[in-house]
Amino acid sequence: SSSLPEGYLLRPLHATDYHHGFLDVLRVLTTVGDISESAWTERYIWMSTRNDEYFVVVIEEVSSRKIVAVGSLIVEKKFLRNLGVVGHIEDISVAKEMQGKQFGQRVIQALDYIAEKVGCYKAILDCSEKNEGFYVKCGYTRAGVQMAHYY
Ligand code: ACO
Repeated sequence: SSSLPEGYLLRPLHATDYHHGFLDVLRVLTTVGDISESAWTERYIWMSTRNDEYFVVVIEEVSSRKIVAVGSLIVEKKFLRNLGVVGHIEDISVAKEMQGKQFGQRVIQALDYIAEKVGCYKAILDCSEKNEGFYVKCGYTRAGVQMAHYY
């Protein structure tokens, strides 16, 4: 099945999601820091000017407007593969108490759908070993080794 439970909605990020717990859901994944509303708005507007490259989706509980899951697709244009386009799946996170209810999988399905629609020949992502099983369930396969150089 690929539908959400009754009372939940998957939609693009809104400017007002600063007030609906977007950053708190992201904090389940990693450090976010203290982001002021004006800093948030500046980044949101910047992303909006590149709305064919940055696709941020959320799942909200409609009655409370509270965000329970988030995820992003960044679309990269290449020279190779005849000017190919690659999708990068980033920052997938589900509120702790909402994990294990297929919300993560719904976010990935939505981002995969967008990636294919905008012409990506593949979507790729980095994850920890402990999340491999989740992405396998979503149809992803292990490919290569992740490297990082922190500055
Ligand atoms: N290992 C193996 N299988 C898993 C795991 C796991 N760690 N997590 C979920 N699954 C399985 C589920 O059992 C389910 O299987 P089923 O369809 O047979 O029932 C299927 O994968 C889908 O699971 P969901 O319920 O959609 O998973 P959830 O909503 O909890 O989302 C996620 C998974 C995003 C990893 C969530 O647990 C989370 O937010 N974790 C903390 C943040 C995090 O690590 N995010 C991923 C970072 S990597 C990146 O962003 C590219």
